[in-house]
Amino acid sequence: MSPRLRHLTTLENLPRATIERLLDRAEALRDACAHGTRKLDVLTGRTVLNLFFEPSTRTRTSFELAARRLGADVINFDIGFSSTSKGEELFDTLHTLEAMHLDAIIVRHKHSGTPDELVHHAMSGVSVINAGDGNRAHPTQGLLDALTIRQHRPDFENLTVVICGDIRHSRVARSDVHALSTLGVKEIRLSGPASLMPEPEEFPHVVHVDDFDEAIRGADAVIMLRLQKERMASTDLPDEAAYFSRYGLDQRRLALAAKGCLVMHPGPINRGIEIASDVADGAQSRILEQVGNGVFVRMAVLNEVLAR
Ligand code: NCD
Repeated sequence: MSPRLRHLTTLENLPRATIERLLDRAEALRDACAHGTRKLDVLTGRTVLNLFFEPSTRTRTSFELAARRLGADVINFDIGFSSTSKGEELFDTLHTLEAMHLDAIIVRHKHSGTPDELVHHAMSGVSVINAGDGNRAHPTQGLLDALTIRQHRPDFENLTVVICGDIRHSRVARSDVHALSTLGVKEIRLSGPASLMPEPEEFPHVVHVDDFDEAIRGADAVIMLRLQKERMASTDLPDEAAYFSRYGLDQRRLALAAKGCLVMHPGPINRGIEIASDVADGAQSRILEQVGNGVFVRMAVLNEVLAR
């Protein structure tokens, strides 16, 4: 058995068995909740801190819900758009909050690497879970995307998955690639404008296809990404109408994919920029299922790092 995780900062190099254990547990928790268990008590007496230095809707609320459903107490510490930066201020904040006796810190920060810095500076016994750091990793999103695909298509060895859009700035894309390649997805294709693609050497085993029409052909799942303007210089901003015509997912393009292709997006979605409204709300959209799975995946991760 792969060892129990104390922290979760990235999916990179996580053993397949660990990822599968977390997905299996998320499914078991979903079943337990479906059968009427409103609140489990595995984390009673534990305190979880949501420490968000960047805005969040889905991730923060679902971590909060996940912790509460497992019986933990939750403190929310939203720094939002404040200019609090790395360094002493962050660690002062950490130690101040730790003095209140925490068991886990869920952190989101614009700087890649902040969760690992917290792992090094946090008091022993405090678990750190990454809720998104810069463009580096968003491990629970990678897990919930893998779970959503697995529920429909467990035959990963036959699947082609396309990730389209602003991949360069996307921590979701990175965690998705790590999860899906570890789980044995046959082919992962990345598509987007050259200026928004990662360096080819970052993912040597992943196919880069500039033309989205070509990339989506025969795909079993397509994950659309938002233009992450907050991580771009204003000169890099593509014209939105031109972007939609080349990289937007509309019905015509979806028809090029395999029958029943799963349409996914981590949210927040920008209708008419990276995805047409009728596709986002259409029969093949799994976007709200992703949101629902987020709660169970986060319960599974909290249970992994905190259960006694
Ligand atoms: C993503 C994020 O914050 O990285 N959102 C999310 O967690 N659901 C993607 C994004 O902001 O575009």
